[in-house]
Amino acid sequence: MKIILCGFGVVGQSLVKLFESRKDELYAKYGLKPRLIAVFDSKGSAVDQSGLKFNELVEIKKKYGTVKNYSKENNSMTGIEILKNIDADVLIETTASNYKDAEPGMTHITTAMKKGMHVISVNKGPLALAFPSLMELATYNQVMFKFSGTVGGGTPILDYAKNSLSGEKITSFAGILNGTTNYILSNMATGLSFEEALKDAKNKGYVEADESLDLDGLDAAAKLVILANWVMGMKVTMPDIKCTGIRKVTIEDIKKAEKNNSVLKLIASCDNELVVGPKEIPKEDPLGVNGTLNAIAFTSEHSGTQTIIGKGAGGTETASSILRDLLDIRQEIAKK
Ligand SMILES: NC(=O)c1ccc[n+]([C@@H]2O[C@H](COP(=O)([O-])OP(=O)(O)OC[C@H]3O[C@@H](n4cnc5c(N)ncnc54)[C@H](OP(=O)(O)O)[C@@H]3O)[C@@H](O)[C@H]2O)c1
Repeated sequence: MKIILCGFGVVGQSLVKLFESRKDELYAKYGLKPRLIAVFDSKGSAVDQSGLKFNELVEIKKKYGTVKNYSKENNSMTGIEILKNIDADVLIETTASNYKDAEPGMTHITTAMKKGMHVISVNKGPLALAFPSLMELATYNQVMFKFSGTVGGGTPILDYAKNSLSGEKITSFAGILNGTTNYILSNMATGLSFEEALKDAKNKGYVEADESLDLDGLDAAAKLVILANWVMGMKVTMPDIKCTGIRKVTIEDIKKAEKNNSVLKLIASCDNELVVGPKEIPKEDPLGVNGTLNAIAFTSEHSGTQTIIGKGAGGTETASSILRDLLDIRQEIAKK
């Protein structure tokens, strides 16, 4: 399977390491032989139709900060030139999520779809801003569009809601979809101020380079958009979410929740409306998880409420979700 990879940061590199470490098993068990024919980061590209060497790519990126130095030839093509001129089966999009105009991911995804490539995205920006039209574009071009890693990292939240509960009607859901803010609120519950808890989260590398994505609830809102479209069949985008972050949460708010035998969490919910905001959750509720964990409770017509809990992010976890998507695509192609 010929693959183009956009972005070679934490997730991109974790994916390539996974390709290397599971190479034999992927072929023996699933008949999947991922051939990475092009990779690009913000500074340049590496292209080899016969397949780039996984370990070498990671070493070069570590040494030079870009994949551009992989080879002296074939390193001057821009990402767009690669997508327009090189034929591949699948594009894997792992550039940074941007909720202003969704670029550069949006152009990568639409260009690839128009060329007839299947697309896997862990980048939430394009989905948050244009989920309905991207699904239409995929259908129009008869390509598969997969995005398991956008919600819950390696925890298969989207697959659970869509496939394990198929035949059921999910009537509402609510959950903690951002691990960073959960870590901060969990630490505030132990007595830390917002500033102290934020500093600790930053020191641990949990906070996005643009902290607003976590603190103002944008990351959680983007995931809520994806869930609402995919699970509930809504046609919504970011402006449809009522979003409040955690910057104004005080120790007094945390203490008030404690008095009510509750915990304060940043909850993303889909009921009569789509809301992200701090909310008191009863202590005994399974949603009240601590640290960087994510949790989501789906309520359906006949199966009651079920809660899934797991790590919501992490390079390897997210890379493993890409692998799941790739295997799904491989299976679908094999059926044809
Ligand atoms: N990390 C996680 O746990 C996780 C979990 C779920 C989803 N995600 C999503 O997955 C995506 C990647 O996350 P990450 O942690 O791997 O981020 P990252 O480490 O910041 O990597 C982003 C990559 O995108 C590249 N890039 C930026 N602008 C580009 C451009 N114009 N053209 C080509 N490449 C460009 C960067 O290039 P340089 O290397 O040159 O800077 C970098 O390689 C994000 O959208 C994130 O929201 C991440």
